[in-house]
Amino acid sequence: MCGITGYVGPRPGVRTVIEMLRRLEYRGYDSAGVAVAAQGDGDMRIVKAAGKLAVLESQLQDHWETHGAAIAHTRWATHGGPTTPNAHPHFSQDGKIALIHNGIIENYQELRAELVSEGFVFASETDTEVMVHLVDRAFQKLGDMETAIREALTLVTGAYSIAVCSSHELETLYCAKTASPLILGLGEGENFLASDIPAVMRYTRSVIVLEDGDFAKITPAGVTLTNLTGGAIHREPFAVTWDEQTAEKGGFPHFMLKEIHEQPRALADTLRGRLTDSERVFIPELEGFTKEQLAGFSHIHIVACGTAYHAGMVAKRFFENLLRRPVEVSVASEFRYADPLVSQQTLCFIVSQSGETADTLAALREAKRLGATIVSVVNVVGSSIARESHACVYTQAGPEICVASTKAYVTQLMVLYLIGLHLAATEERLTDELHQGFVRDLVALPDAVESVIGNALLVEDLAAKLADRSVFFYLGRGYDYAVALEAALKLKEISYLHAEAYAAGELKHGPLALIEPGVIVICLATQPAVFDKMLSNIKEVAARGGTVVGVVYENEHRLDTTADHLLRIPAVRPELSPIVSIVPMQLLAYLVAQQRGCDIDMPRNLAKSVTVE
Ligand code: AGP
Repeated sequence: MCGITGYVGPRPGVRTVIEMLRRLEYRGYDSAGVAVAAQGDGDMRIVKAAGKLAVLESQLQDHWETHGAAIAHTRWATHGGPTTPNAHPHFSQDGKIALIHNGIIENYQELRAELVSEGFVFASETDTEVMVHLVDRAFQKLGDMETAIREALTLVTGAYSIAVCSSHELETLYCAKTASPLILGLGEGENFLASDIPAVMRYTRSVIVLEDGDFAKITPAGVTLTNLTGGAIHREPFAVTWDEQTAEKGGFPHFMLKEIHEQPRALADTLRGRLTDSERVFIPELEGFTKEQLAGFSHIHIVACGTAYHAGMVAKRFFENLLRRPVEVSVASEFRYADPLVSQQTLCFIVSQSGETADTLAALREAKRLGATIVSVVNVVGSSIARESHACVYTQAGPEICVASTKAYVTQLMVLYLIGLHLAATEERLTDELHQGFVRDLVALPDAVESVIGNALLVEDLAAKLADRSVFFYLGRGYDYAVALEAALKLKEISYLHAEAYAAGELKHGPLALIEPGVIVICLATQPAVFDKMLSNIKEVAARGGTVVGVVYENEHRLDTTADHLLRIPAVRPELSPIVSIVPMQLLAYLVAQQRGCDIDMPRNLAKSVTVE
């Protein structure tokens, strides 16, 4: 993980790359650094600091207005702790070459030993530093920066997006990528590079998304794109149409709250263009598959991590109920090493907000190697997972900045429901009535979510009562169990409270021993088919003194006398309730974390996009 930025042009280089970096802090925030090959004397100036970007900024008084090609980096530690020496940029011994990196160099130990034996002195514990010394060594031999960087890249294995600036070649940046994201922003007499599009949006809307193996030379006059061996390549720029506001907080105190509020719009956008006038699902991205192909898959497998995995759990149940075929759902980090039962008869769904999660990307590649057909559900356009899939159905959530996923999750669910209906309709397993009924109910979901958000004050009240408690359980059956897992994850990651989710029927097989006065038990009870069973489980909790918070449909009153607190949501078709019932859970997690003074958008130890295994 890590965010990188770079700039060449007439603006003050340091100020520009730091402003860009502020839009990437979600990628990592345990240290930051900047380097500029100063105009005039050509001296390389490098400032680094442990901690968030603000710490670095406080040390830049003498550098803000420095002009020259500049690069900057915000780090999420992998190799080497979050210290100032380990912060990027790393630099050559003579201080004339600076390099930033996102990814992991897998063979860095061998390379480091080799360089040390040749007399190179290392200033950090990172894997990255070997690269700058390799570039320096090659430069000393070849006398040309571009060739030196290319030679260094032939020696490293692993994942990288890198950017290099140097006082050997002023007003020029070089960058390259393999397996970590990198984009270029094209301006008039100036050019930009970054890990992600929001970093360049305030300067330019013309963007090139680089692909694995791409190498770019960037000057104020233009960019030259080649592959790693120097062959010319062409990548078409595209115009970013997002409103800049959509990538900013838009008046909310945190991105998380803003993104919770964006859910009705994101859901509506995700439906757009995927329903016909006759109220049927139509997914253009799946048009490439014939009816025979789709019906021919004997096995469906869904693979994802974290929140996206929880969306996959909902989809498993939905697909199985509609298609009457076994559907497996796997955590990506387990899938790859499990010798998975995947073949040419497997339709594999890969779910990821970022499209860059290393475990998920590796699982995709493994499934592909085994012959599966890959359909991904991704939010970030042009990301690695989207590009490497046979087909990609994008969620339309827009940029999600908060580490805790909210709008990406509900839009993943929406896309998965659409896909389930598309498959069932293709296989003629849906009556017209059922198909149209589902479509009408999907269309009603944005309003249902809006109404839950409108009742946030009730959740605020509850959050105030719960914020000082330390043990939380989340229970549910069926679809509610998948939501319980996601709800517990939300609370854990942003409030640092201990929260566990259980299938409600499992409680009596062990966890019930933990229920005592003071323990909060949040009981999702939206599924009519198992409501009575859920009620029994809730009574078991109440009898042991646990504090019961029920999440029920607004017309449901059977918990009124048993629950200590109730959160009511609009009644929707039970299969679709996860999109609605998660919303008060997101709000509760947010409000509890706010009461506890937690760093909501950037929870400790976490980062938005986990691009390492
Ligand atoms: C959830 O709030 C987390 N951000 C995390 O579990 C996330 O869903 C997971 O890392 C997967 O990310 P992806 O969707 O970008 O692949």
